[in-house]
Amino acid sequence: MKGRFISACGVSVFLAGCSGLQSSQSVVNPEGLQAARIDHLFWLMFWVCTIAFVITIAALSRAVLRKRETPVENFRPVDRAEATKTRVVAVAIAITVLSLFGLLVSSILTGKAIASLHPQNPLTIEVVGHQWWWEIRYPNSDASKTVITANEIHVPVGTPVVMNSTSRDVIHSFWAPNIHGKRDLIPGYQTALWFQADKEGTYRGQCAEFCGHQHAHMAFFLVAETPEKFNAWLQQQRTSAKDPQDAAAQKGQQFFLSHTCVMCHTVRGTIAGSNVGPDLTHLASRQTIAAGTLPNNPGNLGGWIINSQSIKPGNRMPPNQMNSDDLQSLLTYLETLK
Ligand code: CUA
Repeated sequence: MKGRFISACGVSVFLAGCSGLQSSQSVVNPEGLQAARIDHLFWLMFWVCTIAFVITIAALSRAVLRKRETPVENFRPVDRAEATKTRVVAVAIAITVLSLFGLLVSSILTGKAIASLHPQNPLTIEVVGHQWWWEIRYPNSDASKTVITANEIHVPVGTPVVMNSTSRDVIHSFWAPNIHGKRDLIPGYQTALWFQADKEGTYRGQCAEFCGHQHAHMAFFLVAETPEKFNAWLQQQRTSAKDPQDAAAQKGQQFFLSHTCVMCHTVRGTIAGSNVGPDLTHLASRQTIAAGTLPNNPGNLGGWIINSQSIKPGNRMPPNQMNSDDLQSLLTYLETLK
């Protein structure tokens, strides 16, 4: 009940900040095997510490409020009552040591249980941390079938996923608390993590390692869906962008390909092939832009293109001056990248 309450609060706080997208980000509402084990350990520690706290405060209050039985001038350490108190303190210390040892053992067992789960036929994905967004890859032995997207990870429910991760710049930490604990993404070093989502849903995750100015705006969404939906999504993401049919979108595409956009972004099927910023081949299929900072709609996208520095200061995308006609056609083009 308590878990539901805390998680409900978390969800409502988040929804207030990002309307239109239903998601959950909660440590105490696990939807994956490992998150469930971490949740058990959390509640064990919570209750042991709560009981210890209550007993300590009760004993302290009693000591403070009680009148002294023996006047100080008559105090003798060999007093029988003193000997009893010494025994009580010794027992309390023994219980404390045993409790701490018990927590240590449970913590080690939880860590071992999480690490010892080895998946059969896992789905392999790659996550690369950037200041301040997530590059997501679904590698394939046929390079033309490799999917590259950003800030939105789709996985099939009930299927183990192996996530190989690294960072392009500084240390980031991948954390989707409904599904698993944290995993650092370290430049020049590959770390692996496996997880499994057991229930359909959209789970919010975020960077959990301070990584600079916009660390707080480095979120992602983990979309757990049925294997059928996931496969349909993957097939769609594998396709190259189609050339637009209507005049406004064609004009937007021309603008995109003849301006600085191509220096940082890829749209597969066009000459744009840079990987400094997120791959935009299926930009319109994503629910948010700027690593979960804003819902993906033409208004937000327009504001982001013109001056993303006013939204997420310090990010790598420079301001772009253009007239409103060009912006409208550019947005029309980007909307076709489904
Ligand atoms: Cu990336 Cu904090």
